[in-house]
Order: sequence, then structure tokens, then C-alpha cells
Amino acid sequence: MAKYKIAWLPGDGVGNDVMEATRIVLDRHSFDAEYIHGDIGWEFWKHEGEPLPKRTVEMMKGTDCALFGAITSMPKEEAQEVLDDNLKDKGLVYFSPIVRLRQEFNLHTNLRPCKAYPGNPLNLKEGIDLVVFRENTEGMYGGVEFHPIPQEVFDVLDKNHPKMKKFAEYGLENLALSTRIMSRQKCRNIVTGAFEYAKKYGYKSVTVVDKPNVLRETGGLMVRTAREVAKNYPGIELWETNIDAQAMWLVKNPMDYGVMVAENMFGDILSDLAAQLVGGLGFASSGNMGDDYAVFEPTHGSAPKYHGKYKVNPMAMFLTAKLMLDWLGEKEMAVRLENAIAKVIKEGNAKTYDMGGNTTTLEMAEAVATEL
Ligand code: IPM
Ligand code: MG
Repeated sequence: MAKYKIAWLPGDGVGNDVMEATRIVLDRHSFDAEYIHGDIGWEFWKHEGEPLPKRTVEMMKGTDCALFGAITSMPKEEAQEVLDDNLKDKGLVYFSPIVRLRQEFNLHTNLRPCKAYPGNPLNLKEGIDLVVFRENTEGMYGGVEFHPIPQEVFDVLDKNHPKMKKFAEYGLENLALSTRIMSRQKCRNIVTGAFEYAKKYGYKSVTVVDKPNVLRETGGLMVRTAREVAKNYPGIELWETNIDAQAMWLVKNPMDYGVMVAENMFGDILSDLAAQLVGGLGFASSGNMGDDYAVFEPTHGSAPKYHGKYKVNPMAMFLTAKLMLDWLGEKEMAVRLENAIAKVIKEGNAKTYDMGGNTTTLEMAEAVATEL
């Protein structure tokens, strides 16, 4: 019997290309796993009205963790249009399956490392070494939204907040409401994760990024909680920044930062920004981690126009596999995989189109596998 059971979820578009490449690398690395394919993504939305079929969730429950390629997601109206005719008018609503997986498995911590591997022509600067801890289940991703705002919801808000009167003038049918609900528990959890990481890997500071000057209650809760947590880590400084300023400073002084921590939406934005500093989404890995399950996915999307062309950079997916090995406790394998990736980048003989070359996705896999 294999040592691990891995749910294998290629998803949409180039998710398939990069997963195929990753399998070459993992096999050459002699990673002892049984891979179990799971249906997920746009095709299943179109033909079943469900991008994350129940059978997939059930299958995942019997595995150690999941590797996930990419997903196509679209706003409500566009998603309606592609449904098979017999599924239209059934009141089905498209929800991003990755967002649902994060919630269903309580994958509260999204770890997104952004490291400038020496020799990558796309690095903004050599030496950048950032990591974003993104709270992964709450905030504006909590899914509590309305349009129009139901009368009873409006009434409760109106009763509790003087500012609602002003909105009433527009009529409820013209109002939309998305909420940003955050808990002290999840704030504490994500900040603690960030500090523990800083401690383990020797970072001198943790930067909590939010906007408490405007979002006084949610942003305020995040920052106040971060201050409490920071007391337990005397050797590590807590820096507090606003998301807008942080975006500017990250581009200006990327070397000043190490570990950053943010709630869901700000972490989403921040991690794309950080990724671009070290080569863009072709190098951006991520791990959605809970207490006893995790889903590993590259940060990039499904890029449908490149599907099956084996053109995109699979390094993000390889680095994602490295995160998986780490999480499974296969530290030595993780280090060797990262070293092989770093060596291929440094030598510069294999470069995908984003790096200015024409190496294919599978040739990149071969290059890394050869180093292994
Ligand atoms: C990400 C992506 C997702 C998100 C999308 C695809 C729903 O942008 O993983 O960062 O917003 O979380
Ligand atoms: Mg994103």
C-alpha cells in the first residue's frame, strides 16, 4: 500500500497541463502515493449544475490531502449562460468550488510564499523573500450577501445604525450588501500562524495588513488581536500597515518585509502583488491548510486559452507540491524538490514563455525531474 493517498484535482484549463507535469516530477522523486482523481470545475457546473460534486468531497475525506490545479470562475450571469438547457431556470447559483472547499474543510490558513529564486529573469530584485498568511474562510468570502436587501435585513440595520437612513432613499431594490464578518478566533489563529512561521524560519518581523482607520470594527479587531498575539513573541516585531500603503511599499521596498498577515480579501490582493515581485503567477504556490486536512493549489487561474498547449509555467505547481511535502512531514523531499527547482531556474537553460523562453510545460518537468 502506498504511504499517502492524495486527492488529484486538475480542475479546468491549464490546471490539467501543470498537474500532468507535476506528476512527472513527483514520480521521479519516488513520492510514495496513490492518486485518486476527483471531478471538479466548470465542466461539472455546465453539465451537472455543481462544480464541486458531492462524490468529490466524499472521496477527499478518505485522503491525506489534495493537490488542485486551477478553476475557471465567473460572475453569476455568465455562469448561468453556460449551463445545459435542462439545468437553466432551476435556480442554481455558481459558487467558486475552491472557496467552498476552504469553508467545507475549514482550511483556515492560506500560506503563500513568494521567494525570488536567484537567476529568475522576472525577479523585481534578487533576495526578495516574502510570505503571505491569508485568513481563508471569513471576511468578504463568508458568502453573506444580498441584492436587493430584504426588508427585514434593512430594518435590523436601520434600527442599529443611523447611517442606513441615507441608503433608504435609493430604494431597497437598488441596494446590494456584501458583508465582512470576522471573528476574534480566526484573527488570532492566522496571526499566530504567521508568528509561528516567523519564529521557525528566523524572520524579525510580522506585518499585519488591514485598513483599521476606515474598517474600524473588522480591521480594528484584526489589529487589536495581532497586538495581543505579538506579546507571546518578544523577539519578533509587529508592524501594522494599511493595505493601500502596503501595496506601494511592497513595490518600493520589498526587502523590508518578510511575513505578512491579512484577512481573506486583503490577503488575496496582497498575495498577487507579492507574487509579481518574484516572477508572477508562474511561480506563486499556495497551501490551504486546516487542522487535519489541506488543499494545495498554485495561485494562478485556469487560463483556458492555453489549455492543452503545454505552454504555461508549471513552477508554481511544483512549488505547490513542495508545500504539500512539507505539510506531510516529508521535509527532506521538500528541500530536495525546492533545490531542484532553484537549480533549473538558476541555470536558465529551461525557460517557459513568461520567462522569455520557449520551454514547454512538460520539458520544464523533465528539467526538474532530471535534477532530482
Ligand atoms: C485565489 C483566487 C480565488 C480567490 C478565486 C479563484 C476565487 O483568486 O486563490 O487567490 O479569490 O481566493
Ligand atoms: Mg487571488
